[in-house]
This record gives sequence, structure tokens and C-alpha cells, in this order.
Amino acid sequence: MRRSGSILSGAAARRLPERVPDGSIRRAENQSRTGEAVADVKRVVVLVSGHGSNLQALLDAAAEPASGMAVVLVVADRPGAHGLERARRARVDTAVVRPADHPDRRSFDLALRDLVAAARPDVVCLAGFMRILGPEFVRAFPGRVLNTHPSLLPAFRGAHAVREALAYGVKVTGCTVHLVDEEVDHGPVLFQSAVPVEPGDDEDRLHERIKQEEHRLLPLAVRLLAEGRVRVEGRRAQLVTAEEVSR
Ligand code: GRF
Repeated sequence: MRRSGSILSGAAARRLPERVPDGSIRRAENQSRTGEAVADVKRVVVLVSGHGSNLQALLDAAAEPASGMAVVLVVADRPGAHGLERARRARVDTAVVRPADHPDRRSFDLALRDLVAAARPDVVCLAGFMRILGPEFVRAFPGRVLNTHPSLLPAFRGAHAVREALAYGVKVTGCTVHLVDEEVDHGPVLFQSAVPVEPGDDEDRLHERIKQEEHRLLPLAVRLLAEGRVRVEGRRAQLVTAEEVSR
């Protein structure tokens, strides 16, 4: 798949822009492991819409000394997303790209794409980002965009997966961490974890238990993808060893 022509290259790509196409990056003060400082650390950009507990799991994992990764930018589609606050507390740059500031979905996608590309991510992680990303965005980061979804895909795609699983009366649901392709909740699966539905569960209670699994699997998936340890053939994603990566 081709890379988008708008990805910065050369000198321009070695630093984040002062102004971005939409909204501006809010610089984190006293950045620790983010930004340009640390060589060989894999760069992760995280997109959020809300609470940001999955972002927190990523921030915590990245803060481990041997993680080999840094969250370099957190982008939200609304200024009130609590994930932004989590990022600021972790001294990570933040930005907001609001659909309402764009005439149509394509221009929103392009602004988001350019903002994310300027951060030169090894992995782009959708962690509760409640927008469908268009082809311009997905094609700019081939094989490098991950999503977590609170069901065992392909069951219960879409924004109300937990509610719909409960309404359907399933006994087991769970989460899926998968690569993002141009269809919604569809790309090759990296990890899934089953979560039994318990008597008396409501949407919030069941979702909390599902999130515990997401918090475990998402950081692992991000790290493995960043290390090049994911091989994809058709719909099948397979993990390879570190030795196989260098071959
Ligand atoms: C997660 O369950 C994710 O799968 C879904 O939205 C939820 C986000 O939770 N898309 P949080 O914002 O990370 O707490």
C-alpha cells in the first residue's frame, strides 16, 4: 500500500511542527521519555475520545524502564476527553481535532492524518476513539494502526458492543485487539480474550471487566507491533520471535 504523499519527510519529519493543520499541539512541559530525546524508542500516538483507561494502561506500560516505547502524542476528537488530562499528567503532548471544525469527514481525516504523521509514529493506537477513520488515514499508516474493541469480533461490531452483547443474551463476550483496515472493526486479529457474562451484569459492570482484559492486551499488542513482531498474511496476524524479526 502506498504511503500518503502528505507525510513529512527529511528534515521536516525530524521534528513536530509548531502549527498543525487543525488545532495545535499542546506541548507537555518537562517531557520525560517522549518527544525527540530517546533514540531507538518506538513512538506511539494514541487517539482517544473519552475516559482513557486504555490510554492509561499504555502510559503505564511505556513508563516501565525496559518498555522500549514512548507515547509521544495523544489526540482527542473533543476537548473534554478525560484522556487528555491523563496525557498531560504523564507529560505527553496533546492535541484536539474536532470534526465540527471541518466541512466534511474527509477533511477531518486529512487533518488528523497530517497531525499524526508529523509525530512519526511507529504505531498508532485507537484507544476508545469513537470515530470511523477514512481510507486516507488508514492508508497513511499501513499495518501500523491498532484498535481495541469490547467484543469478540466479528460479533457485535460498532459503538454499542457491550450493550448489544447483553441484549442478545450471550454467555461469553470479551475484547479484540486488531489491526485497523478500511472496514469498521474488521482488520486482522492480534489478541482476543473471553469474558463471561455474570448474572446481574449491567453494561457498566460487564464493560469494566472487559476493560481489564483490554488493559492487559493492548499494551502488549502495541509493543509487539512496534517491535516488528507481527506478520500478517491475509486475515491472519501471527507473532514472530525477536530472532525472526532480524532475519
Ligand atoms: C474500550 O472498551 C474500547 O474498546 C471501546 O471504548 C472503550 C474505551 O474505554 N472502543 P477507555 O476510554 O479506554 O476507558
